[in-house]
Formats: sequence, C-alpha cells, structure tokens
Amino acid sequence: MYKNIQNILEMKDKEKITVLTGYDSTMVTLCDQVDIILVGDSAGMVMLGYEDTSSVTMEDMIRFTTAAKNGRKNSLIVSDLPINSYKTEKDAIRNSLKLIEAGADAVKLEGGKEIAKIIKSITEAKIPVMGHLGLLPQTAQKYTVQGKTKQSAIELIEDAKIITESGVFSIVLEMVSSQVARIITEKISVPTIGIGSGKFCDGQVLVVHDMLGLFEKIKPKFAKRYLSLSDEIRNAVKSYATEVKEEKFPSIEHEFQMDESEYTKLREHID
Ligand code: KIV
Repeated sequence: MYKNIQNILEMKDKEKITVLTGYDSTMVTLCDQVDIILVGDSAGMVMLGYEDTSSVTMEDMIRFTTAAKNGRKNSLIVSDLPINSYKTEKDAIRNSLKLIEAGADAVKLEGGKEIAKIIKSITEAKIPVMGHLGLLPQTAQKYTVQGKTKQSAIELIEDAKIITESGVFSIVLEMVSSQVARIITEKISVPTIGIGSGKFCDGQVLVVHDMLGLFEKIKPKFAKRYLSLSDEIRNAVKSYATEVKEEKFPSIEHEFQMDESEYTKLREHID
C-alpha cells in the first residue's frame, strides 16, 4: 500500500519527508523509495525541452501523471496543475479531477493569498492540495532568492498561514532564505518541503534529472548532484556505436538461431 496524506502530515516534527520529481514509469519505479513523487511541470523543461514551464498543458500533465502512476508502488503522487489551468474555481476543480483520474493523489499549484479561494474550492471538492510559495517558476521573470528583506519575509509567512487555512496538506518553499523557511516551518501546522530553502524544512524536493546529473542546461546552486549520469550515458553510447561500427556487437550471445536441420533444408530450398 502506498503512502497517504495522513502519513505525510504525521511526519511533521518526526521524520524528514523525501520528495523527487518523476514523469515516467521507469524512473518512478527506480525512485519509489521516497515518500512523495512530484509530477512537476518541470517536465516541460527536462522531458519536453521547453525553456521554462509556461507552455506546459493539462494534456502533458495527464500523460506524465499516468506514466508516474504506472511506475509507483509506495510513494504518494502529487501532480502540478500547469499554468492557466486554475484561473477560476471551476477550472481548478475540473482540472484537478482530471489529474486525480490520471492517477494523482493530490495536486500542487503556485501562489499565496491571491489563490487562497481557488485552493479552498479544490480542497472542499475533497482533492488534497500541496501549496507552492517563494520562487514561482510558472510566472517568475528571474530566478532570485525570496524572503531576503523583512517585508518580503512577512508577506511569505502570511501567505503560508493563509494557504494553510485554505486547506493545503503541505507547502513547497522554493528558493526561500533558510531563516524565513525555518520560521514558516515553525509557524504552520502542515509540513514544508524545501527546494533551495535550507535544512529546517520538514522535507526536501529535488528535480530527479538535476539530482542524477542528467539535465545540463541549468545547474542551480541548491541542486546537489548524487551522480553524473549524463557522462555515464555518453560513455555507454560511445561504446555501443564503436562496437556496432567495428562489428563487435551483436555477438553470438545476442543472436537467435534456427535449428541446424531446418537451416540445411532452407538452404537446399533456396539454393
Ligand atoms: O515542477 C517542479 O518540479 C516543481 C519542483 C521544483 C518543486 O515544482
């Protein structure tokens, strides 16, 4: 049985919550030991090759959510509502239901007090919601650290309290100064999941392609690399291409053979 929302809520102050993005069944099967798989709209960049997340559609997110669901056994699946999919309460509920039907256990959307009503309407429709504060990639013009001044910190803390009241079960804090992430984590009742927001959050999320060293276009300071998979892949592809050119692959163990007697009969027929 996989993790549920209650399990995640109960981890606050007890055990750190682990989150990785996942957009396809093979990768999700490999990463399924984390508590939450986030089908993030970062898929637009790492899977579809877009510059940012602003072109990601509901159709994209439905397809990635289905693929993630097909690979998971243990983790909770949270799927991003893409940009423009939650402009009105009606849109937000309709599109959240589509992601739930595709296999998500919860949805995530970006913003603070300005979307509090939207969040409330989704949670009232009995769909669990993860919030997202700090740097908001769907609308950000520049990738800068959030909550560095007293005033911006106060606004972030207020946003966190307001969306908690609207019913989110957790909040992603992206590129928030670690002092402010710590205050938010202490002040709200639901878990915070940090990305570039320091160690005091209740959990951490990374884009799996960053963490494995697969995505080379952007290398954020906070995205620790646990592998250099792009180098490994390039080396493997080089060996494969060389072996094919030099007729070393395929060798006998990769072949299928006819019975010798059948082959003899065939040769006689053909010759
Ligand atoms: O889309 C995404 O992957 C995200 C994470 C970076 C939190 O929202």
